[in-house]
Amino acid sequence: MTIAITGATGQLGRLAIAHLKTLTDPAQIIALVRDPAKAADLGVAARAFDYTAPQAMAPALQGVDVLVLISSSDFNDRVGQHRNVIAAAKAAGVGRIVYTSIQQADRSPMLIAFDHRATEAAINDAGLTATILRNGWYTENWTSSLAGAISAGAMIGAAGDARFTPATRADYAQALAVVAADDAHAGQVYELGGDTAITLADIAAEVSRQTGKDIPYNDLPADVYQGILESFGLPAGFAAVLVDVDQQAGEGWLADNSGTLRQLLGRPTTPLAEAVRAALA
Ligand SMILES: NC(=O)c1ccc[n+]([C@@H]2O[C@H](COP(=O)([O-])OP(=O)(O)OC[C@H]3O[C@@H](n4cnc5c(N)ncnc54)[C@H](OP(=O)(O)O)[C@@H]3O)[C@@H](O)[C@H]2O)c1
Repeated sequence: MTIAITGATGQLGRLAIAHLKTLTDPAQIIALVRDPAKAADLGVAARAFDYTAPQAMAPALQGVDVLVLISSSDFNDRVGQHRNVIAAAKAAGVGRIVYTSIQQADRSPMLIAFDHRATEAAINDAGLTATILRNGWYTENWTSSLAGAISAGAMIGAAGDARFTPATRADYAQALAVVAADDAHAGQVYELGGDTAITLADIAAEVSRQTGKDIPYNDLPADVYQGILESFGLPAGFAAVLVDVDQQAGEGWLADNSGTLRQLLGRPTTPLAEAVRAALA
């Protein structure tokens, strides 16, 4: 069974390929990448693949049984990019598509869910057999900026005491590899999140514990947080999406207590303390 993965030179894609190589013959794995030179260290075949270049997709998808579509990080017509891939997968006779969506994508009012809802609908409309991975928030969305928080003396956000069930990229990547490698997951929609619900204050408390410094969580009004994110260089539209996540998280749109991720992994999800330790190392 030949498994091709888009976004394979991205952070999630690299981790997924590393795990997939432990589950299936590396000769059966194809990295679909914008720049094959960046894939030289992956240890699998690489084919050129750009979400914005549909005319070049047919040769890249030749012989592919399972296509993993990692959602684009380019927010310029993301749904259009995904539709290009879905149409090409359909035309190439791909047997199954695995898509990295967001928790509760079919009903979430969060701005971030809109592209995922439209992509899931496009996969459904194309009549493709699919496995949908509705990933929760990445723990790294917070831990990747801990150095800044520590030097500023506080973590910031606008989520109040909202509870998230984040998991690490490595956890989501392993689950992705597990479902890609086994057609028994065809037709499934999995809501995925970490084992433990946490607030931003919980993260700040863990950072304080591990650094021995007092790093509180400062909850900010939405407009103030938006301005700070823009001052960090984030485009206004993307900053608005992150602020919206925080504002709506209190309703539980990024919280999952199904235990599905843990079941797919066959182990507990990575604890917050471990993720913070890795980020501080
Ligand atoms: N749930 C969450 O909390 C969360 C957080 C962050 C991201 N995400 C989503 O999950 C995806 C994977 O996360 P990540 O951390 O691996 O992101 P990442 O490191 O930014 O990787 C994104 C990948 O998308 C590829 N890509 C972007 N535009 C493309 C195009 N036009 N054609 C083909 N490939 C393209 C990039 O290719 P290059 O390697 O060539 O740059 C890269 O490999 C993201 O793209 C985003 O949609 C979710």
